[in-house]
Amino acid sequence: MKSIIIANWKMNLDLKKSLVLADKIKKQVANLKSEAVICPSFTALSEVGKKIKRSKIALGAQDVFYEESGAYTGEESIKTLKDLGCSYVLIGHSERRIHLGENDEMINKKIKIALKNKLTPVFCLGESLVVRERQGVEKFIIEQLQNGLEGVSINKSSQIIIAYEPIWAIGTGKNIKPEDAEKVFMIIRDQLKKIWPLSIVKNNVRLIYGGSVNDKNCVEFAVRSSAQGLLVGGASLKADEFVSIIKNFY
Ligand code: PGA
Repeated sequence: MKSIIIANWKMNLDLKKSLVLADKIKKQVANLKSEAVICPSFTALSEVGKKIKRSKIALGAQDVFYEESGAYTGEESIKTLKDLGCSYVLIGHSERRIHLGENDEMINKKIKIALKNKLTPVFCLGESLVVRERQGVEKFIIEQLQNGLEGVSINKSSQIIIAYEPIWAIGTGKNIKPEDAEKVFMIIRDQLKKIWPLSIVKNNVRLIYGGSVNDKNCVEFAVRSSAQGLLVGGASLKADEFVSIIKNFY
């Protein structure tokens, strides 16, 4: 499977800036060894989608609601995201868990609805510093993983991406050592092998890393860990830097 680099623009850009950035990135990525995805805010999805159509870059959403439709004020449905051309959707980002009270049960339902509608979920998980220091990472990660994937089945024609993002490394400039990220990837892979057949874990799941990734440290994750891609926040807001991450990581 190809590696995948995902830009998470969060709530940082208005429509005009989103289009300028998408255009700059598009122009620099003609031949890619990795897959590249841009996740703009909901309100920019349509226009950014048009801008990157017929380019090497795919469109992703930053979230989705877990019901197909109905009286859910302010939410976005999976069908709408699909209509807008999204093929990926971030689910369970720690910022949503922290600021919007998203819990494992909601995340589980979101993963299921994404898969049902043939969008690839990018299931985000990771520990806080308190958990890392006091409770231990393994138990916490296994619990998040098991809860998020409860009853989730992946078949040969679907895909899931699991993004390990230690909360303390997100937007802080603090880095986890690739070797320490690797320990968590091993925990995740071992756990996945308990729930899905080995062939699915190998061919239909990608484990990626996120948290203060930049154009310098990205190579370290490629070389010193088994990360199959990156989820990039801050550094994806600068076209040149994001493009060099895409080009350097594979
Ligand atoms: P960061 O964000 O690269 O700015 O740390 C990553 C993320 O939150 O997905």
